[in-house]
Amino acid sequence: MEAPISIVPKTPNSAPLINRKWPEDGGTRIPAWVYSDSDIFNKEMDLFFSGRTWNYVGLACEVPEPGCFKRNWIGTKPVILVRGENDEFYVLENRCAHRGAQVCWKNTGQVKDFTCPYHQWNFALDGTLQGIPFKRGVLGKGGMPADFDPKKHGMRRLRSVNRGGSIWATFAEDAPSFEDYCGPEALAEIDLVMPGKPLKLLGYQRQVINSNWKTYLENLKDPYHATLLHSFYITFGLWRADSVSSNTPTVGGMHSVMTSTNSGKKVTEATAEMARFNDGLTMLDAETVTPRREFNNSRVGGVTLFPSAVLGIQANSLKTRHLIPISPTKHALVFTYYGYEDDDEEMSRLRLKHSNLIGPGGFVSMDDSEMLTQLQNGLSGYPESVGVIEMGGKGVEPVDYMVSEVLIRAFYKFYREMMGL
Ligand code: FES
Ligand SMILES: [Fe+2]
Repeated sequence: MEAPISIVPKTPNSAPLINRKWPEDGGTRIPAWVYSDSDIFNKEMDLFFSGRTWNYVGLACEVPEPGCFKRNWIGTKPVILVRGENDEFYVLENRCAHRGAQVCWKNTGQVKDFTCPYHQWNFALDGTLQGIPFKRGVLGKGGMPADFDPKKHGMRRLRSVNRGGSIWATFAEDAPSFEDYCGPEALAEIDLVMPGKPLKLLGYQRQVINSNWKTYLENLKDPYHATLLHSFYITFGLWRADSVSSNTPTVGGMHSVMTSTNSGKKVTEATAEMARFNDGLTMLDAETVTPRREFNNSRVGGVTLFPSAVLGIQANSLKTRHLIPISPTKHALVFTYYGYEDDDEEMSRLRLKHSNLIGPGGFVSMDDSEMLTQLQNGLSGYPESVGVIEMGGKGVEPVDYMVSEVLIRAFYKFYREMMGL
């Protein structure tokens, strides 16, 4: 595993000092207070979401024409993704340069410019301030001072990149390049599912989960649970302990790549330990769990790109998952389903149909949100307790088997270094 890229700001930020001590045997232990402490949460928001990281904002196909916008959040900060007059993309802070009101209140739409509802300051699509009501006062009285420079009071534009139709942004001018930040393994996974051909938006699912944002991040780095908790995965061979698989922490544990292979329904030696394997369970509509073979050759899974994005494929469902922390014990999760413009109608239908496995009511994913809510109760109630992550050993090197907590160990190694814990 390569040395981590430092995402710690070069100038000290306002984050509070953390007065906590990580438990003994640190590499294989997680203190429960990381999931509920508000000082920890505030430092994470500063360091990870507002720091030298790249954050997922949306897909180019969500804003198909000039003036089309999408509202989103990077951590707890509201932002807007908008397509400009010349098809360029801007990511703006969704914050008025006057007094800070949220300018855009809708999730999506198309506009010629943005007008803040409070005192109606008006901004161009690139954030430039272009109009102030009563700028010259009323009846010759009042107005803005002569030395007020509109050029210095636009909506702040973030540094952003477009990779294969996915848009990413950073608050830090001195963040590493997107490519360096991702590293070759994560970049290859993005390029696999977004190879540069036009994407087609298929739909969204959103939910709020009453647990710390890291519980979801860990859930996606935890193939151990996937083979035990999810009846659907196990029974229909979509994700099983005995499938060809890989778990690879990358860039010092910051990101990870987790893959498996759809193997179909079968009984093997391993099914004996999978309490939720149900040989008697059949689907009247088998298509729901039967992918059509395509570019991925039955290889499923994908990349978790720190801090908040997951890209990948399950059956024929292509999606991004975006994690939006709300408070120490609450986060939102947005699934954006997409396909390719050159998909045939049958494939578009299958991509949507297989989204039934994922999302808030998904045959698979609904297990996770319920589980994480229950997990948070155990964590918040006992903040001094300690979790154990020793499945598959104590190391952080990549493994080619499923039943392992290596990605979580590698993540916390990175996390502790960055947080100074
Ligand atoms: S806060 Fe936006 S115009 Fe006053
Ligand atoms: Fe899961």
